[in-house]
Amino acid sequence: QIVDWDPEDAGKGGYEHYMLKEIHEQPTSLRQTLRGRADPTTGDVILEDFPSGTFEGIRRVQFVACGTSYHAGLVGSHFIGSRGLPAQTFLASEYAVSAPPVDEETLVVGVTQSGETADTLSALRRAEAGGARTLAVTNVVGSTAARECDDALFIRAGPEIGVAATKTFSSQVVSLSLLGERLVRDAVGRRSDDVQDVLSALSDLPDHVQRILDYTKAHRIAKRYYDCDSYFFIGRGSVYPVALEGALKFKEISYEHAEGFAAGELKHGPLALVTPATPVFAVFTGRHDRKTLSNVKEVEARGAPVVAVASETNEEIVQYADDVLTIPDTHPDVAGILANVQLQLLSYHAAAQLDRPIDKPRNLAKSVTVE
Ligand code: G6P
Repeated sequence: QIVDWDPEDAGKGGYEHYMLKEIHEQPTSLRQTLRGRADPTTGDVILEDFPSGTFEGIRRVQFVACGTSYHAGLVGSHFIGSRGLPAQTFLASEYAVSAPPVDEETLVVGVTQSGETADTLSALRRAEAGGARTLAVTNVVGSTAARECDDALFIRAGPEIGVAATKTFSSQVVSLSLLGERLVRDAVGRRSDDVQDVLSALSDLPDHVQRILDYTKAHRIAKRYYDCDSYFFIGRGSVYPVALEGALKFKEISYEHAEGFAAGELKHGPLALVTPATPVFAVFTGRHDRKTLSNVKEVEARGAPVVAVASETNEEIVQYADDVLTIPDTHPDVAGILANVQLQLLSYHAAAQLDRPIDKPRNLAKSVTVE
């Protein structure tokens, strides 16, 4: 008997969409990203092409990127900046037209999954022309960014087919944390105080992500809220970029209006939009939680439903949130990756409720090769 199958469905490995398959691949892809690169017991970071001393003389770091990769860059600059090395993240399309000054003590890092995004390539070329050292953090060996930059760090996430980036974001953030630690050591001249805790949290990530995939309530939350006016995502510090990424993913595949805000900025404008028909997703990491909680109280007073994404051990938040998407307890700088997996699942299930073409959203392309 001839069995009918098409290669596209076979590639989805039993999942209805590539996006869901790729979300579920994260324990494996994260193991690949981390393999051989971090030793939590000694605090050593081992990056094949970047031995100790590679970045001596670097005084500042600039990340350039677009879309989801821009959000990973924001996490990276937060990580590095908070450990004593000045770092900033720029939208590549803006950097290409108004770049800040650079010199040979500046490392410009292009974060690009495909290595082919025109805006990012253009920003990197501009940095190179200004005399900066350039580095590509990419998923694609042999890509233009990898070839043109002075150096390349590969995130090793494996192929990503869904237009909405999922597993590559997680691998980018992990790669940038490892690179960040190498940079801080070389440029500032000492290890971060919490390096062993960070590396141990990174090593636990694959199992922690698996736990989220096994126990998530994201599909139930998506069912409860998919028919609202707007969706807001808030976070502070290392998870402000996760709020931005949560909103980007949500709008990309559900076509619903979604926006991410720094939690503290809500009261400076966006609060005017908050109503009982605008659910607010608030991301907590265990750091600055009190302040974010006070922002949650502000939106609750306006009748908005609040869904917290928070550690399973955080008992206080449960009292204020209508729902909680829990994540395993971990280092605050790593918690965002876990929170983001819950938000990926939320977006996926909301888009599925609305019957959207999840793997190929209208008007969007996996890689944009025009400026
Ligand atoms: C496109 C994709 C996004 C992606 C962005 C940057 O807009 O739709 O998902 O984040 O390009 O792509 P890159 O390959 O440079 O990471």
